[in-house]
Amino acid sequence: MIKDIQQEILKLKAEKDICILAHSYQAHEIIEIADFTGDSYKLSVDASNVRSKNILFCGVHFMAETAKMLSPDKRVFLANPLAGCPMAEQMEPEMIEALKRQEPDRKVVAYINTTAKLKSVCDVCVTSSSAVKIVKAMDAEKILFIPDCNLGAFVQKNVPEKDIKLLQGGCPVHAAVAPDEVRQAKRLHPDALVLVHPECVPKVSEQADYVGSTSGIINFAKNSEAEEFIIGTEISIAEHLQYECPGKKFYILSKKILCPNMKLTTLMDVYNSCAGIDNGEAFEIKMTEDEISSARVCIDEMLRLG
Ligand code: 13P
Ligand code: SF4
Repeated sequence: MIKDIQQEILKLKAEKDICILAHSYQAHEIIEIADFTGDSYKLSVDASNVRSKNILFCGVHFMAETAKMLSPDKRVFLANPLAGCPMAEQMEPEMIEALKRQEPDRKVVAYINTTAKLKSVCDVCVTSSSAVKIVKAMDAEKILFIPDCNLGAFVQKNVPEKDIKLLQGGCPVHAAVAPDEVRQAKRLHPDALVLVHPECVPKVSEQADYVGSTSGIINFAKNSEAEEFIIGTEISIAEHLQYECPGKKFYILSKKILCPNMKLTTLMDVYNSCAGIDNGEAFEIKMTEDEISSARVCIDEMLRLG
């Protein structure tokens, strides 16, 4: 049944000139039929290189919005319109503008998990895989890093030469993991390496053997000589890795790292979006030229420095 639906999607994709981009946190059956998969940074680069007329994004709203900004001449659709990222909605542009007025020489770095409205008042975007590199490369000593204070603390640690200010925001899913869960997981699997996403709290990241983005974790596990890994990011990654490396063992760090928004999209959503792409039934991302041009500045800056 799953294979039949996947075949239908592949047919519709070819007929209607659709390119499917899927974030690595999507279900395995969606990853299998996607043209591009990966973390937020890789998908941003992929979105700017798409040739098809239509992009169907399987992920959350800010990701589809970023794809629209990078390919404004394409029609961009989100496979499930309810899939949002709570972190993206945590801060209002007015609040950031007020902070900028207080300290005009402090450059604002926005995690890509933000709305286009918020991006339009920031200087540069980063993703978890590019944050350290970009903050280092910026021509500024004073930085305000928003909204994720855990990723921000990871950047502070790796770029000690800069004055980096943080605000209280972050991913409720990764931040829910308690430091004690790492100790318990290590007791259960003493030979496993612990790989953690920097959206986890510092007391969790400090106990890890490796801290990095989704793609960083995937590549580390694939290339490592080790045979067992505790995966401290969305639980789908342990599943995907287990398919890709059947000779190794992958354990989830915590049942709490299950993103309900990433899990909303089903294979049938992908099928229905492809089938309804020309009759108004698929959810299209609509942005004005002004919205695109004001928010795109900091995405272009990310691609230039990253
Ligand atoms: P990356 O895909 O950039 O690692 O970010 C993780 C995440 O939580 C995406 O929403
Ligand atoms: Fe947002 Fe966290 Fe879910 Fe990523 S995992 S979409 S940052 S809530």
